[in-house]
Amino acid sequence: MAAKARIVATILLVCAILLPLLASAFDNRPEFLEHDSSKTNVTISGDNNIVRANNYDLTIPRSDDEKRNERSLKEKKKKKKNKKNKKGKKSHEHEHEHEHEHEHEHEHKNEHEDEDETFDPTIGGGQQGTGGFSRLFPGYNVPPITGEREQPEINGGLREGFYQKTCPQAEQIIKDGLIRAVQNDYTIAAAIPRLFLHDCFVNGCDGSILLDTTPSGERVEKLSGTNGVTVKGFELIDEIKAELEETCPGIVSCSDTLAYLSRDAFVASGLPHYEVPGGRRDGTVSFEANVAGNLPLPGDTVDQMIDLFMKKGLNVEDLVVLIGAHSIGVAHCFNFLYRLDEPQKAQNIDPRLGNVMRFTCTNQMSTLAFDATTQYKMDSVFYKQLLMKRGLLESDQILTQDIRTRGFVQKFGDDEMGWFNKFGNAMNNLGSIEVLTGNQGQIRRQCRVVNL
Ligand code: HEM
Repeated sequence: MAAKARIVATILLVCAILLPLLASAFDNRPEFLEHDSSKTNVTISGDNNIVRANNYDLTIPRSDDEKRNERSLKEKKKKKKNKKNKKGKKSHEHEHEHEHEHEHEHEHKNEHEDEDETFDPTIGGGQQGTGGFSRLFPGYNVPPITGEREQPEINGGLREGFYQKTCPQAEQIIKDGLIRAVQNDYTIAAAIPRLFLHDCFVNGCDGSILLDTTPSGERVEKLSGTNGVTVKGFELIDEIKAELEETCPGIVSCSDTLAYLSRDAFVASGLPHYEVPGGRRDGTVSFEANVAGNLPLPGDTVDQMIDLFMKKGLNVEDLVVLIGAHSIGVAHCFNFLYRLDEPQKAQNIDPRLGNVMRFTCTNQMSTLAFDATTQYKMDSVFYKQLLMKRGLLESDQILTQDIRTRGFVQKFGDDEMGWFNKFGNAMNNLGSIEVLTGNQGQIRRQCRVVNL
């Protein structure tokens, strides 16, 4: 009997030692969140973007502060879990009492929130959401628009909750469409906001970039070389617009669809949710000739960028806040490779990035991620990379050299939450450029053609 007890005690002791070890072996975080400078392989992959940058490490070592923050976050999480377990026990004791049902539900919600804190490398996320899609996509939950009161008009006649009465499902349909698309192809999340920028800067946010033809028969914006192969996402917009038309015919404009979709793309990539005012109507013209001079170019000087943004009603801070959109997505080699050929420009590139450029750009149509460490995640790593001369575009890199912009780059690199808080507002400034509202323009039935 005593021998049996000793055997059982030994088994228990072995389990007590081995189980925690096994558990920690499975406690893996996505590789790119580790910022471990000892890793030497940087692998960037996507549907139309498969790049391997072996032996070049472009990750940023974590600072002591970051490590401390991480530790304290882990501790807080542990404490929260312990507290929750205690609470859970208590509420089980009173299961039959109705008043505890709600509390119980709430706890389940918290449980999921805790699980959702794990970052999904394939999509980003990690801030507010629970339930439904957010189980798959952490942080992805658009708060429902509640109440019947209409929001005041802001941003040039636009209004939050614009479709609240006329098509309450609109924002959800758009969000669901984005999530479906991202599940299929992560790169679409970066493509959509670029489309929005290129729509808004040329003739205002009127959906003119989406048009294939117009009654005038002139060449349209999307045919311009500056757009060309570098803009995509038109099929997704067709798909979502078809759904919107089925649910609420003639109500939701293509330009609003693009505005909401851009927000959803950023949120799916990890940005906290922000409200987007609606009410844009669609234009009926689109001219290729309008593109030149209205879109920023990778070889622009800081003066040129600031001037262009000012012309569109955006200030220097908006410029640096919004350039953070390059935290996700890619650029084609033809947009940056030329920098290596000019010694003065090449000086402004970290030699290791230079090597990656040479290695990857076997032809000008190859692509590289703006931020090789967290390509699919909106985070302030992009700004930190700029400060280490690891910006892909010349126009991004020179923002660290000009007195008007450098301070912002440093600030947002150090304070991700501060940058997040400014991002939605800056996007809404972008989204209100020369909008058509009221009875101007039209609500296109199909985004590629004007209603006749
Ligand atoms: C201010 C000057 C800017 C310049 C010179 C610029 C230039 C560029 C260039 C050259 C690319 C790469 C295109 C390619 O090769 O495929 C790009 C991509 C991108 N841009 Fe900008 N951009 C600017 C501002 C912005 C702003 C304000 C936004 C915010 C919406 C933005 C969002 C993006 C995104 C998300 C991509 C990635 C697209 C993808 O991966 O499909 N850019 N930009």
